[in-house]
Amino acid sequence: MRTKLVAGNWKMNGNLASNQALLEAVIPALAPLKRANYAVCVPFPYLAQAQHTLRGSNVALGTQDVCQFDGGAYTGGVSAAMLVDFGCRYVIVGHSERRSAFGESDEVVAFKFAAAIKHRLTPILCVGETLAERESGLTEAVVARQLDAVVKRCSLAALGQCVIAYEPVWAIGTGRTATPQQAQAVHATIRARVAAADRRLADELVILYGGSVKAANAAQLFAMPDVDGGLIGGASLAADEFIAICRAAVGAEEIVRA
Ligand code: 13P
Repeated sequence: MRTKLVAGNWKMNGNLASNQALLEAVIPALAPLKRANYAVCVPFPYLAQAQHTLRGSNVALGTQDVCQFDGGAYTGGVSAAMLVDFGCRYVIVGHSERRSAFGESDEVVAFKFAAAIKHRLTPILCVGETLAERESGLTEAVVARQLDAVVKRCSLAALGQCVIAYEPVWAIGTGRTATPQQAQAVHATIRARVAAADRRLADELVILYGGSVKAANAAQLFAMPDVDGGLIGGASLAADEFIAICRAAVGAEEIVRA
């Protein structure tokens, strides 16, 4: 049985005051929701604040990038060991915004994934196609290429220590969510690709959907058999929306009990 995960990706948003208000609203609301896992992936400067505020809660700390190098003369880099130092559990790697706005290749993403694994961080590996790629029938090939780059560098077994996030680029920040059926189809393809090499690993692999997830559509997406939760951008910045999405992940039964 896979446990659902809802992770907020704050992207380059927030400040000390707004982060504090957001976390202080989210933490008590999620405390009774025991049947799923939760995380917030915060910008680097706020790691200490989030580490301190999340202490003792059931919301894990994550961040949004890691340097592929271990340490030393890499100006501006933030190493995996530094993230561990601040109590990080998750790190997003290969987000499409980093691939497009910062020119990260499949190979760089694979090195970042390796750096995270080496330091026992859980990488949240983002994969997904652009609209042009989808319209050209390339969705499966693009996702396979992005996955294979990581497997080639780190081995298939390394996928057992990560979370995958399927994030169609055309659905990110656009309000245009993939339908539950579109998400399910790609998630099933990813799982089948891993299952072809290792069925057990595939059965345990947590695959999140990301791209305009909101309180209004989360339950339908999370009801799909291969959708194991969400990576939430904009809606993770509004406490009420994020809490409602997390509630959708535990399902109606636990909400009634809570
Ligand atoms: P939105 O939820 O704002 O579409 O962003 C999704 C995303 O990129 C999460 O990593």
